[in-house]
Amino acid sequence: MALANLFRKKSVHATHSDEGHGTGLHRVLTVRDLTFFGIAAIIGAGSFSSIGSACFSGGPAVIFLFIICAIACGFTAMCYAEFATRVPASGSAYTYAYVSFGELSAWIIGWALLMEYSIGNIYVAFSWSGYFVNLIEALGIHFPTWLTNNYSDSHQAFLDGIAGKLSNAWVSAPNVLGLKIIFDLPALMINILVTWLVYVGTKESRNASNIMVMIKLAIILLVIIVGGMYVDIDNWTPFMPNQFSGVMAGVSGVFFAYIGFDAVSTLAEESKNPQRDLPRGMIYSLIICTIIFIILALVLTGMVSYTALNVSDPLAEVFALKGIKWMLFIVSIAAVVAMTSVILVFQMGQPRIWMAMSRDGLLPQKFSEIHPKYQTPAFSTLITGLVVGIPIFFTTPKFVLDFTSIGTLFAFVLVCGGILVLPRNTAAKEKGKFKMPYINAKFIVPIITLTSLLLIYFNHVSLIRNDDGSFNYPMIVFYLVWIAIAALSFIKNYSLIPVLGLLSCCYLLTGMGWTNWVMFSVWLVIGLVVYFIYGYRKSKLNV
Ligand code: ALA
Repeated sequence: MALANLFRKKSVHATHSDEGHGTGLHRVLTVRDLTFFGIAAIIGAGSFSSIGSACFSGGPAVIFLFIICAIACGFTAMCYAEFATRVPASGSAYTYAYVSFGELSAWIIGWALLMEYSIGNIYVAFSWSGYFVNLIEALGIHFPTWLTNNYSDSHQAFLDGIAGKLSNAWVSAPNVLGLKIIFDLPALMINILVTWLVYVGTKESRNASNIMVMIKLAIILLVIIVGGMYVDIDNWTPFMPNQFSGVMAGVSGVFFAYIGFDAVSTLAEESKNPQRDLPRGMIYSLIICTIIFIILALVLTGMVSYTALNVSDPLAEVFALKGIKWMLFIVSIAAVVAMTSVILVFQMGQPRIWMAMSRDGLLPQKFSEIHPKYQTPAFSTLITGLVVGIPIFFTTPKFVLDFTSIGTLFAFVLVCGGILVLPRNTAAKEKGKFKMPYINAKFIVPIITLTSLLLIYFNHVSLIRNDDGSFNYPMIVFYLVWIAIAALSFIKNYSLIPVLGLLSCCYLLTGMGWTNWVMFSVWLVIGLVVYFIYGYRKSKLNV
C-alpha cells in the first residue's frame, strides 16, 4: 500500500468538470430557494425539542451557548461559502476535503457526514413523533404507547421504576417469541413518507419545503409574540444557575439546532448560480435562525422557570403550564411541519454526498445512478431511507443527538482546516461571487491566545480540571490545539476567519462527553476498514 495514495487529491479543475458533465440533475434553485432550504434544515428538532434540556442545564444563560454556536457556525459557513465558490460541485464538505487534504480525509468526512445527515434525521424523526402524537391525541386518536416510544428508553424507565408513558409502553407491549415489541411507529412513517417524496423529485420536494418553511416561520413568530406577553423577568434570575459548565452541558442540543446551513452546499448542482447563491443562502439562513433562537430561548426561560423545561416538547410545555390551550395545538402543528422539512432536506442531502463519493469510485457505481424518470439519485435515496429507518427500532434520541453533534463538529473542523491548507485565493474578487476576506492572523491569534490564557490563569480558573478535581482531558487537548494553531498562524500567516472557525468548533467539541468520543472513534475505525476494503482499491484516482 502506497502511503502517498492516502493523500492523493482531486484537482479543483476536476470538480468543475464533474459539475459540467451532465449529471442529469435539474438546475432549478435560486438564492431564495437556497435560503429557504437552509431554514428548512435548521429550524426543527433543535428548536422544538433539544432546546428544552439545554435551557434546563444552562438556565437563561443558555443564550451564551447559542451565541458561541452561532459564531462557530458563522465562521464555518464562511469557509463552506469559500469552498462552494471554488468547488461548485455536489458533495459538500466531502468534495472540499478531497481537493484540500486528499482522499483519506475526504472519506473520513464523508463518513462523518453520514452522522449529520442520516443519524441526525433519526433524532428529528423521534422528536417529530413526540409532537405528532400530541397532535393526534388532541384530535382524540390514541396510539398504544408501545407504538410511540423506543425500546431502550422504555426498558430503562421500567427498570428505574419511573412511572409514565415509557414504563407503560414496556408493561403493555405484546410479546413475540419472548421479545417485547416496542418501536416508534410515527417516526418510521415520516421517514418512509419523506423518502418517497425525495425519490420522486427535487422540484416537488422544493415546493413542499418552501411551503413548510413559511408555515414554521409564521408559527415560531406567533410563539415568540404570544409567549413574549407571558414573560416574567424574575424567571431570568438566577441567570446562570449551574455555572458555565451547566451552559456547556447543553452543547449537543444547541449545536444540533444550528446544523443544516451546510446542507445548502449539497445542492450545488441543482442551483442556477451556485458560486453566487450558495454562500448567500447559507449565510442568510444562519443569520435569520440565530436571531430566532436567541429570542426563543429568552422567551422560554422567561415564561417559566428553566427547571420546568427538561421535557421533549418544551414549546408545548410552556403554553400548557400557562394554560394557553389553543397555542398547544398550533405549536404541535408547527413542530410537525418544521421537522418534516428538516427530514426532507437531510434526506435530499445524504444521497447527493454518496453520489459524489460514488463518482469518485469510493462507493459502488449504483450510488450515483440517476432515476431515468424522476432524475433523482434513486438508489442512494432508498439506502438513506433504510439507514434512517432501521436504527429507529433500537436507538434512543439522546444517543443519536450526541452522535450527530460530535460527527458534524468534526466535519466542520476539517472544513475550516481545509481552507487553511488550500493555496490562498489571491485573485481579485469577481462581481457576484463570494470571496472570503483575508485578514492576516499572524499577530491577532497569538495575542488573543496569550491574553485569554493569562486572564484564565489570573482569575484562578483551572485550565485543566473539572469542578470535581478530575482532569478535563478534552479541555487539555483543546488548549494544546489552540497554542499550536496560534503558533502556525504566526509562522504561516493564516487567514483569520478559518482559524477562528476551527478554534470555536474545537472548543464546542470539548463539551462532548467521554462516551461520545469512544463511540465516535469506533465509528471512525469502522469507516477506515470500509475504505481500505473498497474505496482505496476502487478510487478513480487509481492509475
Ligand atoms: N437543525 C436541525 C434541527 O434542529 C437539524 O432539527
